[in-house]
Formats: sequence, structure tokens, C-alpha cells
Amino acid sequence: MQVFKSLEQWQTWRAQLDTADGQSLGFVATMGALHAGHSSLIAESKAANSHTVVSIFINPTQFDQAADLSAYPQPLEQDLELLEELQIDAVLLPDSEQIYPDNYRYKVTESELSERFCGASREGHFDGVLTVVMRLFNLVQPTRAYFGEKDWQQLELIRGMVAAFFMPVAVVGVKTLRAQDGLALSSRNQRLSKEERKLAPIFHQILKTAGSTDSARQQLDAAGFAVDYVTEAVFDHKLRRLAAARLGTTRLIDNISIDTAKQAMLHE
Ligand code: PAF
Repeated sequence: MQVFKSLEQWQTWRAQLDTADGQSLGFVATMGALHAGHSSLIAESKAANSHTVVSIFINPTQFDQAADLSAYPQPLEQDLELLEELQIDAVLLPDSEQIYPDNYRYKVTESELSERFCGASREGHFDGVLTVVMRLFNLVQPTRAYFGEKDWQQLELIRGMVAAFFMPVAVVGVKTLRAQDGLALSSRNQRLSKEERKLAPIFHQILKTAGSTDSARQQLDAAGFAVDYVTEAVFDHKLRRLAAARLGTTRLIDNISIDTAKQAMLHE
């Protein structure tokens, strides 16, 4: 596994990969603190591409709160060990100066979906996400890029950006990986206290079983979550229920297809 801190060295490696000649490059963008959810993205990439590259970059422009950025877990050595075990080809470890040589004067802004749901309370968050993903795509030039469905709104916005800017990359959404108790895997889960971790799976349970978004909100409030939103929206003709809530200082997000919710209710 090659570890690239220098963009020049990365670009030299990338240039020798001939995707026109049957080789393909799968890309998994991460902010580190890797878990089984990331491993599943990497597994999908390895199954479909001749080469796989992972980036680890804690993107400062997508954090709306400085405290959230400084508390973000950074177990780099552990991450590199896991990536080595997963036998990927390369890891890209850029720093902020390399990714933002313009000091973030140039950015990608979407003006509808990005202002709703998570975007309504996290100002500038999706500008930061889209901008870093576009920059990483331009540097990596992947054939396919893999993103988890847990961040549904992010996935939709990245798909929209790729279509709007005619970017030559296939965006692949990968099913949310859950702990046995149903909690969606996330790097932020590491920040939950023992008590909070016990309570956290109720978030997904309520999302699945509540008869309406109002009922879900009330049940989450009663269970001790500080609800940001619970909503339902249509994506590609299919209804989804999406929610975000804080447990202590940790923000959890999740989403389900509404058919799943109906099925769960029928089985009650
Ligand atoms: O989902 C994430 O980890 C981040 O938002 C991403 C896509 C790596 C961009 O920084």
C-alpha cells in the first residue's frame, strides 16, 4: 500500500494508471476514524475496480462548529493498519494547504436541497462537502466513487453535482452498515458515552416504527434526544424518512426507506 502525502507523487502514480486500457480506479473519500462501514465501501470498490484508493482528510470547511472539528477523532495509525489489512493500493493524506491553495475562495454551492434537513442547521456544511469532493475527484480522477447511504443528503448532493458538472465519475451508494442493535455505524459513535451508546439504537428503532414524523419526534424527545429534524421526502420517486438528533454532544443522523417503516409497523 502506497501512502501519499505529496500531491505531486500522487499525480505521478495516478498518471501511470491507464484507465483507458482496462484498468479502473475506485475511490473512497473519508475523514478517517475508519470503521466497518468504511470497510464495506472499500470492499465494494475492490470488487468492481482493478485499483482502490482511499483519502483521509478531515475537511475543515464542512464543520460549522470549531468544537466539533477539534473533537473529531484522528486515530491515523490505526486507520493505516486497517487499510493495510484491507489491501488497498494507495492512501492519499493531503493537508489543508494542499486541498485549499486558494484559501477556499472558490467553492461549489447548491441552492435547494443543501439548504434543507441537515443544511438548515449547519450553515455552509454542504458547500464544504461538495467543494472538497470536487477537489478530491479532480485530484484522484476515479472511475467510481463510493459513499454510504447513511449520509443520504450528502450522497444525493454529490450525485447532483456530478451530473450538473458533467464529471466523468460513477457515484455508487452503499447500504448503511449497522451494529447488531441497529445503530448506523459512524465515526462519531466513538464520542458517545457508555450510557448514550446504550440509548442510541432507539433512534433507528423509532425512525422505523413511528407512524408519522410527528410521532417519531415526540418519541425521540421523550427518550432524551434533542431532535434537529424528522422529515419525509421523495428521492427518485421513492419516499424516505430522514432524521438528525443530538445525544449529549454527539449528532446522529439516519434515514430509512418508508416502505421499511410500513413493513415494521405491519409486523408489530
Ligand atoms: O462523509 C464523509 O466522511 C465526508 O463528508 C466526505 C465525503 C469524506 C467529505 O469530506
